[in-house]
Order: sequence, then structure tokens, then C-alpha cells
Amino acid sequence: MKNIAVLVSGGGTNLQALIDAEKSGIIKNGKITCVIASKPGVYALERAAQNGIKSLVIPRKDYADIASYTRAVTDALLAEKADLVVYAGFMTILDEQIFRAFPYKMMNIHPALIPSFCGKGFYGLHVHEAALAAGVKLSGATVHFVTEVCDGGPIIMQKAVPVENGDTPETLQKRIMEQAEWKILPEAVSLFCQDRIKVVDGKAVVD
Ligand code: GRF
Repeated sequence: MKNIAVLVSGGGTNLQALIDAEKSGIIKNGKITCVIASKPGVYALERAAQNGIKSLVIPRKDYADIASYTRAVTDALLAEKADLVVYAGFMTILDEQIFRAFPYKMMNIHPALIPSFCGKGFYGLHVHEAALAAGVKLSGATVHFVTEVCDGGPIIMQKAVPVENGDTPETLQKRIMEQAEWKILPEAVSLFCQDRIKVVDGKAVVD
């Protein structure tokens, strides 16, 4: 049984999808054992509490720089004996220390089809604003391994979602969350916990 640690910064809808998937048996051989928030009072912490999941708050604002903050988060994850770290709406960039501690053992959900609309500055509604500005007819979500390159790790799963006439960033975000993010993240976590994802020549291969 693998220990799953979830990093959060906001509402925690992806955390909720993972909690629901664990309860319904979709996540094989994995258990969410802790939630770590980058700031206090976020609703993701309430979701953890409602489900009896241990949570820690490591406030980004308490640390002078990214290096010391990354050290604190890494040490907490090691203390929790995390086998998998899931970034679920985690809004703080960490440095390469954590990648060295958890090589190909961390995954992130990005609300676009990487390599489109990703990288520095592409988070939250900004992603969907860019997709609408580009006039794409399909967007979606991507689960990828976290490496030192922002949104640049090997892609594990993707799911496309249609852009509809009259979409706003908010309506597109909601559709992508409901139809893509909340489905592929639990699936990818389950595959990892079953040791069914390998990285070969820099590409994630699911067997
Ligand atoms: C989601 O759109 C996710 O793709 C992005 O952060 C947003 C909020 O996630 N990484 P959550 O509701 O806090 O899980």
C-alpha cells in the first residue's frame, strides 16, 4: 500500500476527487495519508478534516526564499514517508531539492493539454484565458510527473475537452475540471500505486 501525500493551496476539488476515488476503490494499492497546504484556512484543509486525513500547513510566507521553503516541504514529506506526492492545485514553485528527494514520484494536474498553455504564468484562469484567446476548439487537462522544469515533466495522461461557443474562462475551467481533471488524476494515481508507469527515454509509459 503506497502512502499518497497531497499538496494543496486552494479549494481542493482535485483532492476531493482523490478522496472520492479512494473511497470507491478506484485507487488501487494507495492511501491518502496526509495533505500539506501552502497557506492556512484553504477549503482543501476542511475536506481533509471531513475525511479524517492528517493535514499540515507550511505557510509559504513564513520562509524567506524558495530554497528554505522547499527544504521544509521536502522534510515534511520524508517524515510522512510519502511514496507519491500529488500536486493538486498547489500554487507554489519548489526547487530541484524536492525532485532529487522524490525522482518521478511526484505528479501534477495541469488544466490544459501540455505543451499548450503551460509554464511560468500559466495557472488558474490565466490558462483558460490564453486558450480562449488562441481560439482553440479543444482544451483539456494533463497529468505529468513533476521535475525541475515547470510543467515540463513526462506526460502521464491527458483528456481533451471541447471549447464551446460563448465560453468564458470560468465556464471552460469548470468543464475541464468536471470532465477531465477529476477523472484523469485519480486514474493516474492508481496506475502509479500499481507500479504501472515507467519513464523510458524521458517519456512516461503506462503498461
Ligand atoms: C485546478 O484547475 C487545477 O488544475 C489547478 O488548480 C486549480 C484548482 O484546483 N492546478 P483545486 O480545486 O484546488 O483542486
